[in-house]
Amino acid sequence: MVIAIDGPAASGKGTLARRLALHYGLPHLDTGLLYRAVALALLDADRDLADETAAEDAARCLRAESLGDLRLRERAMGEAASVVSALPAVRAALLDWQRRFAGAEGGAVLDGRDIGTVVCPDAAVKLFITAAPEERAHRRHRELGGRGEAASYEAVLADIQRRDARDKDRAAAPLRIADDAVVIDTTDLDAEAAFRAAIAVVEARRRRS
Ligand code: DC
Repeated sequence: MVIAIDGPAASGKGTLARRLALHYGLPHLDTGLLYRAVALALLDADRDLADETAAEDAARCLRAESLGDLRLRERAMGEAASVVSALPAVRAALLDWQRRFAGAEGGAVLDGRDIGTVVCPDAAVKLFITAAPEERAHRRHRELGGRGEAASYEAVLADIQRRDARDKDRAAAPLRIADDAVVIDTTDLDAEAAFRAAIAVVEARRRRS
C-alpha cells in the first residue's frame, strides 16, 4: 500500500506521514529533504541555486546518509529547496529515487508536493493536507522558536506565502490537488485529530479495494 501525502509548507503533512508510517509499519520518505539536500550541496559548494547543471549533478549524487544533516531543517533551507525544486532537471534526477522508495515491498508513505500527481500517480491512498497560511505560520514560528531559531511571526508568514506561490506557480510538477486525493484541512485540527481523519480515509480505501 502506497500512501501519497501532499500539501503546502507547515500543513502538518510531515507529522501525519510519520504517524501513518508507524501505524501501518511502512517506510517513510520526506521528499522535501531531497530538495533541501540538493540546495545544501549547492550552497556548500558555493554554487548558485539557479545553476541547473550543478543542481542536477548534486541531485544525481545525493546519498541517503546526507538526509540526516540537521542544517536541512533550517528555515533558509526550505526557501532554497523551493528554488532548486523549480528546476526540471533536478526533479527528473530525483524521480527514480522516489519511485524506487515507493516500490518497496509492502508499500511506503511519501510526503511532498507532487507525490499523488507525478511520483506515485497510482498510489492506493492520496491525501492532500492543507491549512490556512496564518495557522501554518503560527506552527512554523513555534517550531523554529522551540529549536532556538529566532524569526518574527510576520517574517515566517511572508516565507510561507512566498513558498506557496513558488511551489504552485512553477511549470514543473506544481503543487496541486490530485483528482483522486482526499483533502484534509488541519486549520482547526490538532495532530491527533488529523491522524484520526487520515486513518478513516485509509481504512475506507482499503475496504474498497
Ligand atoms: O516539504 P518541505 O518544506 O521540506 O519542502 C521544501 C521545498 O521542496 C518546497 O518548498 C518545495 C520542494 N518540494 C517539491 O518541490 N516537491 C516535493 N515532492 C517536496 C518538496
